[in-house]
Amino acid sequence: MTTELILEIAQVSKRFGGLQALSDVKLSIARDQIVGLIGPNGAGKTTLFNVITGLYQPDSGQFSLAGKPYSPSAPHEVARAGIARTFQNIRLFGDMTAIENVMVGRHVRTRQTVLGAILRHAAARAEEAAIKKHALALLEFVGIAEFADRTARHLSYGDQRRLEIARALATDPLLLALDEPAAGMNAIEKEGLRTLLLKIKAQGTAILLIEHDVKLVMGICDRLTVLDHGERIAEGTPAEVQRNPAVIAAYLGTEAA
Ligand SMILES: Nc1ncnc2c1ncn2[C@@H]1O[C@H](COP(=O)(O)OP(=O)(O)OP(=O)(O)O)[C@@H](O)[C@H]1O
Ligand SMILES: [Mg+2]
Repeated sequence: MTTELILEIAQVSKRFGGLQALSDVKLSIARDQIVGLIGPNGAGKTTLFNVITGLYQPDSGQFSLAGKPYSPSAPHEVARAGIARTFQNIRLFGDMTAIENVMVGRHVRTRQTVLGAILRHAAARAEEAAIKKHALALLEFVGIAEFADRTARHLSYGDQRRLEIARALATDPLLLALDEPAAGMNAIEKEGLRTLLLKIKAQGTAILLIEHDVKLVMGICDRLTVLDHGERIAEGTPAEVQRNPAVIAAYLGTEAA
């Protein structure tokens, strides 16, 4: 079986003043994989996402996306290259409707600016209709189409997390990077999320998942990378990682899983 590598990174380091937040981290994700990134609080997981998605400049690192070298310089270029993400702290436009939030996400893939679409220039109208249709399909895909016209801040917490995923998917990413998507979700919402992530993987989008819910991570991920104090202390299948003594000492042993 050939596995097409979507993202390959190596020797990624990032220092904040006296703190070495990432030291020589490597990671790879194939198209048909959900890869979990786990580790204790402050391990460097979000920092790695921020480096991969161009929010932070790394001190060093090699990056390749779908077999081509890429340099994650600015977030919009990263989105164009094929990586989309969600944030640990939800970042939606709270006063915009659900569908508008997804339409904004789409503009990276269209020629018209969202402003153009909103101003309804004649040339933008057809494209706006297509964007809207696509956005509605995405809301349907994540299971919140019935709330398309609800303002984002009036959605439940779990539905806001789904909306963030729909907005990220609007860029047609090769790789979807999710920073603690289950945080604050109840058991039923988590089950819905699990099904959604498997659906996203089945349609050919690779997923990089930061998540503290051990049951969710172990149940859904093909492989795991474990960070501790900015270093990769383990990599393997969930079963391998779960019995790795270094991982148990640094992370799993302290979990009330
Ligand atoms: N912009 C920044 N400036 C200075 N220090 C930072 C910055 N961002 C992160 N850090 C530090 O880098 C370390 C790693 O933080 P990071 O947010 O990546 O951890 P994490 O693994 O995502 O943790 P959590 O599970 O709590 O979200 C922490 O010590 C954090 O305080
Ligand atoms: Mg984090």
